[in-house]
Amino acid sequence: MAKFIAFTSKGLTDCLESELRELNFKNVKKHVSSVSFECSWSQCYLAHMALKTATRIAFPIRDFKAYNPEELYHLIKKIDFTKYFNAEQSFKIDLSASQDSIGESHFLAFTIKDAIVDQFREKFNKRPDVDTKSPDFKLLVRCQKNIFNLSIDLTGPSLSQRGYRQHTHAAPLREHLAAGLMLYVDFKSYDIIVDPMCGSGTLLIEAARALSKPMTHEKRNFLFENLKTFKADDYKKAKLDLKTNFKTKNLKLVGYDQHPEAIKASLENAKAAGVDHLIEFKQQSLKDLKNVFKSTGAIITNPPYGERLSEKQELESLYSDFGAKLKQEFGGWDLWLLSGEGEALRALKFKTSQKIPVWNGNIECRFLKYQIRSFK
Ligand SMILES: C[S@@+](CC[C@H](N)C(=O)[O-])C[C@H]1O[C@@H](n2cnc3c(N)ncnc32)[C@H](O)[C@@H]1O
Repeated sequence: MAKFIAFTSKGLTDCLESELRELNFKNVKKHVSSVSFECSWSQCYLAHMALKTATRIAFPIRDFKAYNPEELYHLIKKIDFTKYFNAEQSFKIDLSASQDSIGESHFLAFTIKDAIVDQFREKFNKRPDVDTKSPDFKLLVRCQKNIFNLSIDLTGPSLSQRGYRQHTHAAPLREHLAAGLMLYVDFKSYDIIVDPMCGSGTLLIEAARALSKPMTHEKRNFLFENLKTFKADDYKKAKLDLKTNFKTKNLKLVGYDQHPEAIKASLENAKAAGVDHLIEFKQQSLKDLKNVFKSTGAIITNPPYGERLSEKQELESLYSDFGAKLKQEFGGWDLWLLSGEGEALRALKFKTSQKIPVWNGNIECRFLKYQIRSFK
C-alpha cells in the first residue's frame, strides 16, 4: 500500500471521492481540489485508466521545512532520486511557491535542479538532462513560506485530455468536468438524455464513453511507466481487470445545436472517441425543439455565456424562450443546467431542486436541477 493524491477542479472533489471509494481504495480523504487515497501501485495504474474526474495523480515523497536556499539544496540532496529514474532520462521541476516563500520560484527550482544533478554526478559521474516540454520524470514541488511538499507526477499531460477532441466550437467543457457533471446527475438512471445546446458534444460523448468503454484512456503513456519501479506485468493485468469487470449499458443520447460547425465538431469528436454509433447529433435551433421521445428522461445542457451587456440581454431572452419551450414540450422531465448566469437564470422561471457549485476554469458556476412542470 502507498499513499497517492488525485487532483481535480474545485467543485468536483465529491465525484472524485466516490469514484475512488467505488474502486475500494483505503483512507480516501477530500481536500479543496484533490483527494488523497491509499492503494497498491498496480491499483494506482488502474486508477489512471478508470478515473473520469481526476486531472492528475501524484505520489508524495517528502514534506520538510527549509529556511534558506542552502538548506533546501542539502535536504533535496538527501532524498535518493536515483531510485526513481536514471541518468539517461530527462527530468523537470514543476514548482509553485507562495509570495512569502524563502526565494523566488525560478531560483528555488534552480536550486532543486542543481541538488538532483549533483547527486547523480557524484554517484554515477553522469547527469540527467532537463526537459521542460516532455520529461521522463517530473517532480512537483509546492512551497508555502518555508514548507516544502514534494511529490512525483505519475500522470504527465492532464487526464482531462482524452485524445478524442479533434475540433471544438464555442467554449467547450473540459472532459473531466463534463464527466463529473454526468456523475452528479446519476445519468445511468435515465433512459434518455438530450443536450439541446451541445456545442462540441462533450457532455454526451463523456456519457457514451462511460457507458461503453472500460478505460477512460486507451492509447496514451503515463509518467509512471518511466519510473525504475514500474512493473509492466502489473500494468497489463490492471488493464485486463478493468476490461473483465466492465458492464456496458444502453441509453438514448441526443444532441442538437443551432450551429452547423458545432454539429460537425460533435460528429467528428464522437467518431474519434469511438462512440458515434451511440449518439444522435442534429442541427436544430431551440425554437424547433420538440419532444419526439417515447419515454421520459433528462435535458442536460450548458447554455452560452455572455460577457457584454448586449449578450446578457440576449441570454435572458434565450433562457426565457428555453423555459417556455421546456414547459410546453418536456413536462415530467428533469432539467440539469450548468450556468454562471444568475440574471438569465431568473428568466427561466423554474424552481431549483438542487444546486451544485462547480468551477468551469476560473468561472464559478452552478449546476442546477429543476423538475419541469408542464403548462399544456
Ligand atoms: C457553451 S456552448 C456548449 C458547450 C458544450 N457543452 C461543449 O462542451 O462543447 C453553448 C452552445 O449553445 C449553442 N446555442 C446557442 N443558442 C442556441 C439556440 N438558440 N439553439 C441551439 N443552440 C444554441 C451554441 O451554438 C453553443 O454551441
